[in-house]
Amino acid sequence: MGTSHGSHRAALLAGALALGVATSLIAAAPAMAAEVKVGGGSLDWGFKASFRAYVGTGNGTPPIAVKDGATRNADGTFDFPATGGTYDAAAGTAKVTYGGTVVFSYPLHMFEITLANPTLVVDGDGTGALLADVDLVANGGSTEQHLDQAEIATVVTTAPAVTDGAVSFSNLAGTLTSSGAGAFAGFYSAGSALDPITASASATATEPEEPQEPEEPQEPEQPGGSSSAAQKITAAVSGGALTLTSAGSAVALSAATPGQTATGNLNAVTVSDLRGTNSGWDLVGQVTDFASTGGATIPAANLGWTPTAAVAGTGLVAANGVTNAVAPGSPVAPGTGLGASRTLCKADTGSSLGSSTCGAALSLGIPESSAAGEYSAVLTLTLA
Ligand code: HEM
Repeated sequence: MGTSHGSHRAALLAGALALGVATSLIAAAPAMAAEVKVGGGSLDWGFKASFRAYVGTGNGTPPIAVKDGATRNADGTFDFPATGGTYDAAAGTAKVTYGGTVVFSYPLHMFEITLANPTLVVDGDGTGALLADVDLVANGGSTEQHLDQAEIATVVTTAPAVTDGAVSFSNLAGTLTSSGAGAFAGFYSAGSALDPITASASATATEPEEPQEPEEPQEPEQPGGSSSAAQKITAAVSGGALTLTSAGSAVALSAATPGQTATGNLNAVTVSDLRGTNSGWDLVGQVTDFASTGGATIPAANLGWTPTAAVAGTGLVAANGVTNAVAPGSPVAPGTGLGASRTLCKADTGSSLGSSTCGAALSLGIPESSAAGEYSAVLTLTLA
């Protein structure tokens, strides 16, 4: 899953913003009755542990690199954030595109294999497929193979777990197809077992649900002559942590020329206040100056944002009088933007229990005096 840093009082998150690369939009299939468009989620997959071990001990610098939004999990597998697609929780079907690139390099064995942009297809009948872009360049370029969204694995699928309308599939078994095997120059045969696939998808943000009134407790009926037995149920709830997780670690803004505005969206972040103290929290962000590879800069103040925030429901009923509210920070315009610390979202004392999802539309005003180039900056979100 996404980057996660938790502590009782503060959490830090850094995300790189690279400017100059246009975001790609994936067209979704026409919506059917219960089909929803994907707005978030991630796919966790290691491809094949033995291959990671083989390449990982090689002489690549580094042997395994992640980019374009993919991140490396603590256990060595990879996390690809969702970029689009649709799913139907009731039918248990999904076609979800995920973004990001993993590069396996082994110069001594003269190969580089790039695995990118996995797409998970889940049919309702227990079968599915994993599609991806896979490129092999070997023997100094004399061996090359490029697969574009090819079916590299067949997947045994199970019904998704459904939480708040979001679906998750865990540990789906994957098997290499013959086209997938082709990308490994005959070192694997079709039918080889791959690492299990765990994936999730959630809908694009919707309005938070109305808080539900708890139902009046009903007196149990006592038909004449029957006996009854009572059980007292107790549960100890100890305070948890205040945590921050992000659906991704990189944002590519749209391409722009001097005088224009480059735009994009912050990866959704989730704040969970499980401390049980209801003492409020504040999530603030600040960006560094944007620096180009050529040494030019665009000052941090030129990045503006329009924050969004929504309470993430769990399907459980809160106790009477307990409310969970989150408020987005004020929009800040390019020019007077994120050079200083600005609030992305906050929850006040008395209504901060539970989880909230925050995001922001980003706009970087490119000064007319800017040199052309690929600029990047790091936006740090701090939760306290
Ligand atoms: C097109 C170039 C190459 C590709 C795509 C490739 C790929 C692979 C793959 C997929 C494996 C199996 C890893 C596993 O799951 O255990 C493997 C193993 C191996 N390869 Fe390569 N390889 C290439 C070139 C080479 C070369 C040139 C050498 C020798 C100089 C080599 C030596 C080995 C050895 C010794 C193993 C067994 C490693 C082990 O058991 O740990 N490979 N290779």
